[in-house]
Amino acid sequence: MATEEPFHGPGPGEPAGALRLVDLTMRYGDVTAVDRLDLTVPAGSFFALLGPSGCGKTSTLRMVAGLAEPTGGRILLDDEDITRLRPYRRPVNTVFQNYALFPHLDVFENVAFGLRRRRQPDVAGQVRRMLSLVALDGYERQRPSQLSGGQQQRVALARALVNRPRVLLLDEPLGALDLALRRRMQLELKRLRAEVGGTFVHVTHDQEEAMTLADTVAVMNAGRIEQLGTPAELYEFPATAFVATFLGRSNLLAGRVYGRDGDDLLVQAYGRRFSVPSARARADSGEVLLGVRPEKVRLVDTPEQVPAGHQWLDGTVGEVGYLGVSTEYSVRTGAGVELSVFAAADGEAPRIPPGTPVVAHWHPRHAFLLHGGSTFRDAGTAAPPPVPPPPVPLSAGPE
Ligand SMILES: Nc1ncnc2c1ncn2[C@@H]1O[C@H](COP(=O)(O)OP(=O)(O)O)[C@@H](O)[C@H]1O
Ligand SMILES: [Mg+2]
Repeated sequence: MATEEPFHGPGPGEPAGALRLVDLTMRYGDVTAVDRLDLTVPAGSFFALLGPSGCGKTSTLRMVAGLAEPTGGRILLDDEDITRLRPYRRPVNTVFQNYALFPHLDVFENVAFGLRRRRQPDVAGQVRRMLSLVALDGYERQRPSQLSGGQQQRVALARALVNRPRVLLLDEPLGALDLALRRRMQLELKRLRAEVGGTFVHVTHDQEEAMTLADTVAVMNAGRIEQLGTPAELYEFPATAFVATFLGRSNLLAGRVYGRDGDDLLVQAYGRRFSVPSARARADSGEVLLGVRPEKVRLVDTPEQVPAGHQWLDGTVGEVGYLGVSTEYSVRTGAGVELSVFAAADGEAPRIPPGTPVVAHWHPRHAFLLHGGSTFRDAGTAAPPPVPPPPVPLSAGPE
């Protein structure tokens, strides 16, 4: 046993699982669940499809797996069109949120199922190696009902991976687990992906899970992809207000571009003037949203304490939320917009009580600029920014 080669996914030289969705559409009656989706999943990536409930994630996966027929568009796997291929002919396996294990079969037979159906040699050896990989040695004869949620989840993974799929589809596979177990399984998934290779497409509505696991994240909203990139790219420079508020939190100030100064765009918002480097701008004219992440905003007592080159708004501390690793302040600014500020709990800065006058400041390089006006789409987690009041005499931060 010990001398056997370890389990692996697609072998060297085998196609690696590059997935391409072209103009993919799924309609149910008048509901367009997936709306002319174009998406490229690089071979061998751990890819996350992230979006709120109802945005079309499961519908997309079901079409890739062959469990639902697209209304339009094509699915290519390693450049082969698999749009009309029967599900069992596709080198694709799916792990569902509810595991969908066979209750009347024991662990061994659940994992062996696909191998037996395809009349593979050495079923016992392959199943044992796979069970060892998901740390379930010794559980071969248990029924699913005798296992914990985490163990059932690992059986479901083993059952899919034993077929060495070029693409493993994971539909909210950790959704039913409690938080601690979910964190542990996330690490397990990362380890598994590194060991077996192939492409993992992981669907989740949990932004933290997507960012922890994936090397590439596609943010999906209302049947379309809003942005695709590495977790850091999405977080540091979101493309839309939806991404800015669904992936982490953002302060979004509604304003208007009024000019340019060298490499900076000049923005007027709430009667104040701000600047944003043009390299950090998705829009360079008209109505815009000036975004800044809550952890990039600092609080001081007076405008004199604002560091040179920073921009600021003054206000009063409203709600204070204790989050353990940080404290969240809601600052009601004189300009009429509320800012969210995260202060790291480094044990140095004293907690600021509600009602304290403060000055919130940030460096322009931490700001980003998005299309504003009618293109703003609410992520469901943040209220749309209020319409800016008419310009008043300017009182910009120290330039
Ligand atoms: N079989 C179905 N019949 C009718 N509408 C459906 C069906 N499946 C999904 N929908 C609708 O399609 C949209 C996308 O659903 P789904 O793909 O399950 O989203 P997600 O997995 O992101 O939560 C939702 O509005 C949902 O109500
Ligand atoms: Mg779903």
